[in-house]
Amino acid sequence: MQIISKLPQVGTTIFTVMSALANEVGAVNLSQGFPDFPIDNTLAHYTHEAMQKGLNQYAPMAGLPLLREALAHKLSQTYHFNCSPAENITITSGATEALFAAITALVSEGDEVIIFEPAYDSYVPAIELNKGVAIRIALTPESYQIDWQKVKESISPRTKAILINTPHNPTGTVLSQQDLLNLVEVVRNTNIWIISDEVYEHIIFDNIRHESVLHYPELRERSMAIYSFGKTFHATGWKIGYCVAPAEATKEFRKVHQFLTFSTVTPMQYALAIYLQNPENYLHLPSFYEKKRNTFAQMMQETPFQLLPCQGTYFQLASYKHLSDEKDTDYTIRLTKEVGVATIPVSVFYQEPQDHKVIRFCFAKKEETLARAVEKLIKHKEKLYQPQTTKA
Ligand SMILES: Cc1ncc(COP(=O)(O)O)c(C=O)c1O
Repeated sequence: MQIISKLPQVGTTIFTVMSALANEVGAVNLSQGFPDFPIDNTLAHYTHEAMQKGLNQYAPMAGLPLLREALAHKLSQTYHFNCSPAENITITSGATEALFAAITALVSEGDEVIIFEPAYDSYVPAIELNKGVAIRIALTPESYQIDWQKVKESISPRTKAILINTPHNPTGTVLSQQDLLNLVEVVRNTNIWIISDEVYEHIIFDNIRHESVLHYPELRERSMAIYSFGKTFHATGWKIGYCVAPAEATKEFRKVHQFLTFSTVTPMQYALAIYLQNPENYLHLPSFYEKKRNTFAQMMQETPFQLLPCQGTYFQLASYKHLSDEKDTDYTIRLTKEVGVATIPVSVFYQEPQDHKVIRFCFAKKEETLARAVEKLIKHKEKLYQPQTTKA
């Protein structure tokens, strides 16, 4: 039987490939973005309590009211946005589902969505499955800044949405207030939607304020803002996220959501609702991860890598262009096999691989894991340089 692929270009994601290789060769896995430390015991306790209370059946399609109410309170405290739990917030099975539902709700055949590369890998397949067209704007090291003039020039009568991501995976950059003001300017007097991937909202450093679209009244009325509890509470395996959107957009979003998954895992929603009652549970995150960023950067000084600025997320980019001419995909595979440290090549986040000789380390790890990885990089320092035999 023949099947005509709707995603002919798509293979297994690099995250799966690198994690599998890391397991196979016993490398320290700093590739895929997930913590190797446990969730807070209190959160685990609330989950257990929910299961024991019998909260094990389907949750309401839009999410447990208790959780949506807790989120509405959090959004008013964090972004001064007073929204309605009933009309504006939908709980989803991870940010990935929310992204897919948002894109499906908005994009019809031939519609264009402006995205910025390097880009998280679920955006383009979601656009293309809806017969939309991704208009890519490439960002380049070291600053990876958005050229808003280029954005203006990329807008056409078919532009349906602009998809932003801040703090940004994989670069660790964040959008500034000026970026958001430029965005306001670009979309004013248009029908362009914003899809704002803010899954790392609480993982931001150096006292920088996270610039959410929800902070800006002119943006929030045309935005679907997407979040992930997996990222915020070290529970990526839970796959729970949410989407905040205007009422009319939420209606369309839910039409898609109800046939993608219908509803999201119940006991965790209860646990998260209770856990959110203590804001300290998320307010401590910038300093928690900033410490990890600094510890990792300090350790990496003993290696010849050049670290790029990291203002947010739990990813640290490093340049090796002064060490080797190898393609970043080859380099990361060699590093995994020969040095025993798995990372992610940044070129795979571009459609037309742009090999800037930059690789991504995930530092959401226990200090001993980071130390073990850096120890290997130091021990096998000569292997970080291009092997003589393969030198061009
Ligand atoms: C930028 C970005 N968006 C969305 C997601 C997906 O989040 P979730 O695991 O909640 O689906 C990730 C996960 O790595 C991410 O890095």
